[in-house]
Amino acid sequence: MSDNNPAMTYLKDYQAPAFELESVDLVVRLYEEGALVSSTLRVQRIQGGQADEPLRLHGEDLELRSLRLDGRELAAAEFQQDAESLTLHRVPDRFVLSCDTWIKPQENKRLEGLYRSRQMFCTQCEAEGFRRITYYLDRPDVMSVFRTRIEADRAQYPILLSNGNPVESGDLPDGRHFVTWHDPFRKPSYLFALVAGDLHCQRDRFTTQSGRSIDLRIYVDHQNADKCDFALAALKRAMRWDEEVYGREYDLDIFMIVAVDDFNMGAMENKGLNIFNSSCVLAKQEATTDAGFERIEAIVAHEYFHNWSGNRVTCRDWFQLSLKEGFTVFRDAEYSADMGSRTVKRIEDVSVLRTAQFAEDAGPMSHPVRPASYLEISNFYTLTIYEKGAEVVRMLYTLLGPELFRRGSDLYFERHDGQAVTTDDFVAAMAEVSGRDLTQFKRWYDQSGTPEVRVKASYDAKAQRYTLQFTQSCPPTPGQPEKLPFVIPIRLALFDAAGTALPLSVADGAREWVYELSETTGILHFEAVAAQPVPSLLRMFSAPVKLYFDYSDDELLFLLQHDTDGFNRWEMQQRLSQRMLEQLVSDVQAGRPLEVPERFIAVMRSILADASLDDAMVSKLLVLPTEQYLIEQAQEADVDAIHRAREFARQTLAQALRADLPQVYQRCQHPEEDNSLTQEAVAHRALKNAVLGLWSAAPDAQFYEVCEAQFRTAGTMTDQYGALAAMVNASDRAKAQATLDAFYEQWQQDQQVLEQWFSVQSASAHHSDLAYIKQLMQHPAFEFTNPNKLRSVLGAFCNQNLVNFHADDGSAYAFLADQIIRLDKLNPQIASRLTTPLTRGRKFGTKRKALMRAQLQRIADQPSLSKDVRELVSKSLGY
Ligand code: TRP
Ligand code: ZN
Repeated sequence: MSDNNPAMTYLKDYQAPAFELESVDLVVRLYEEGALVSSTLRVQRIQGGQADEPLRLHGEDLELRSLRLDGRELAAAEFQQDAESLTLHRVPDRFVLSCDTWIKPQENKRLEGLYRSRQMFCTQCEAEGFRRITYYLDRPDVMSVFRTRIEADRAQYPILLSNGNPVESGDLPDGRHFVTWHDPFRKPSYLFALVAGDLHCQRDRFTTQSGRSIDLRIYVDHQNADKCDFALAALKRAMRWDEEVYGREYDLDIFMIVAVDDFNMGAMENKGLNIFNSSCVLAKQEATTDAGFERIEAIVAHEYFHNWSGNRVTCRDWFQLSLKEGFTVFRDAEYSADMGSRTVKRIEDVSVLRTAQFAEDAGPMSHPVRPASYLEISNFYTLTIYEKGAEVVRMLYTLLGPELFRRGSDLYFERHDGQAVTTDDFVAAMAEVSGRDLTQFKRWYDQSGTPEVRVKASYDAKAQRYTLQFTQSCPPTPGQPEKLPFVIPIRLALFDAAGTALPLSVADGAREWVYELSETTGILHFEAVAAQPVPSLLRMFSAPVKLYFDYSDDELLFLLQHDTDGFNRWEMQQRLSQRMLEQLVSDVQAGRPLEVPERFIAVMRSILADASLDDAMVSKLLVLPTEQYLIEQAQEADVDAIHRAREFARQTLAQALRADLPQVYQRCQHPEEDNSLTQEAVAHRALKNAVLGLWSAAPDAQFYEVCEAQFRTAGTMTDQYGALAAMVNASDRAKAQATLDAFYEQWQQDQQVLEQWFSVQSASAHHSDLAYIKQLMQHPAFEFTNPNKLRSVLGAFCNQNLVNFHADDGSAYAFLADQIIRLDKLNPQIASRLTTPLTRGRKFGTKRKALMRAQLQRIADQPSLSKDVRELVSKSLGY
């Protein structure tokens, strides 16, 4: 993409706004045919601003009905309009601008701005949706106080919600009514929200640390009235945690959550009125898996935490998106770690980072945590902004330690409350409280790509000195051929042969230490080391890098058994498995006979018997590295060989552990702890289902008996779904189909469960080829305009069912391209997200790469294409 492409937005071009908005008054009249939006803006030229600076308001797909300046209707010649803006060339320093626009929420399938989801009206304004509601200075550094009056038919829309506090309500002629809301906190337009519908309301209260009583409400469709309890309880836990850990108290008197079925992302932190994708908030034990509960808890917390990290202190511009997202993901991850198992949470987050984020960082869309340019900002709600951004904040936490980090956070919130700021401001607060120079650290915000760290060890027995040598590098990424060294915190320990962590001479005898690698190379000498130790490096994954150290199998095994860092125990198991699988892959490719070493089987057997491991950990250790991870790790991935190798290993293990698996399964059957969500019960279910998952690779009669019994008698969705998933991935297709049918029969009324039903099939290489996916898309429960359904069928197929998606005739690529072209006309954000799998061509060999390119080219050749898809496609083709 050329540097002077006018459609691109550049960080270097940032200019402060020329006008400010003292207040915004909105009246939104909702009708079946459309909505009439009347806005009244009190506009003021910024102090010292140029008197001839025009006022340019954003606006898209709006029908302008009236425009008045200080009460006088403006003639068409007095302003200029194009597809994206409205410009007033000569305006006074201070004036009132009133504007009526007509919009059509019913036809809005983009799900940006004001739209309809089933029977309700709702909004999504981040990042640039507000400009689809009315003409406005739709940028996060323009903040104002909003008053919003909503008018609608009382019978169809008894509930009318917006941000802040309700201040007035009443009846209107023709069976209509109104409610007026006032939000006392200045906010940018992306945090505006409005909801109208016939909704069930579940209420609760929360008393803050200073004794204020907050009115909590969840609004859902009446049919989901029994799915609110969990999110409400999670919300209260999150509110308490933010007070205790960050000293942050809620500010308004009312906090509302609304569940919406058609939603582009997970949820949205609108001030006082969070809007959630139904699948990220609705839950009950019979219908929600434990993983589902965990996800809901994390997202409820995430959106709530935004009230401070995002709303009270917001972003100056969208290049600073990770200021709020990286920090808030870090906050919600710590919250989840405190609520459950810290190690397991870390394993899950690192798995996502190392498969999906590392892949993004190695592809054509690779960008820094603070990007320098974008064509369409919606494309930058990425794993890099969110997950890598959170890793960058975590590294600051690691470098400063908990106390200083908290002081930095306090300073940041205090200094910037009510402001729109940058990631530099965040880092400056951390630098100030710690007295550290974080200039070099900030390269994490500006350099893209995944750094690689190579470590070499040597031991001098005579001098009793152990030496570690570090080298860092970072591969070139688009626009960044060369990188400067990063500051990389490497948490480490050394173990002696007895499995004891040694006192470290470099750390005054402490047994664990964080080494800061800040040059291209670094060297550490450990003195008084009596015998060659085994190093445990990058403990708890202390930096988002690829670390290479040439461990012997014995050393990996040793750390798997003895490391005191739970994350690294798992990591060593992953490394052992990866080594074994890579050998199998090359055997597949060379046509050699396949074999899983006895030794590896023995390791798995000993994990099952290891009393020092808790069940949740064992459930993680039972799963071999995923195909996605193996692909990311490979220079060039042979998908078919990887699939065959991994399946062969699973099958061999399942057969070899034929006697062990049922025993472990039995051990985890605890009828007395029934269906509770205690950590123990969750861990038992996780292990039981991980056992079924492995067993499904070599299913025998007993396997089917166990699955069928578990499916029939399950008291939780975790158990019912676990049995279903195991059967779908086992060899007996007829049994799988019968179970899928029974599941559908039982759950066809429940949208959240149906999404699971779709995705378990679509993701299964065993069960679903392209023809089957096409059939699923014809199923009456499938809806092409609903993002969740698209994600659970097309998304699951393209991202998880890899052998079928990458079928070497390219048929699935062509099919996906067809869907993208069709969807782009309806919902560009989701069309763009679905394009991602086609941008990963470089990994899959020349033939597949060419097939993917041909489809990207076909998409690019479409006469009209959204900015969203165009940006992905052109960056991939130019790569
Ligand atoms: N800010 C939201 C979050 O992090 C996510 C979000 C961004 C979003 N853009 C969106 C949600 C568009 C829905 C639609 O939680
Ligand atoms: Zn967020």
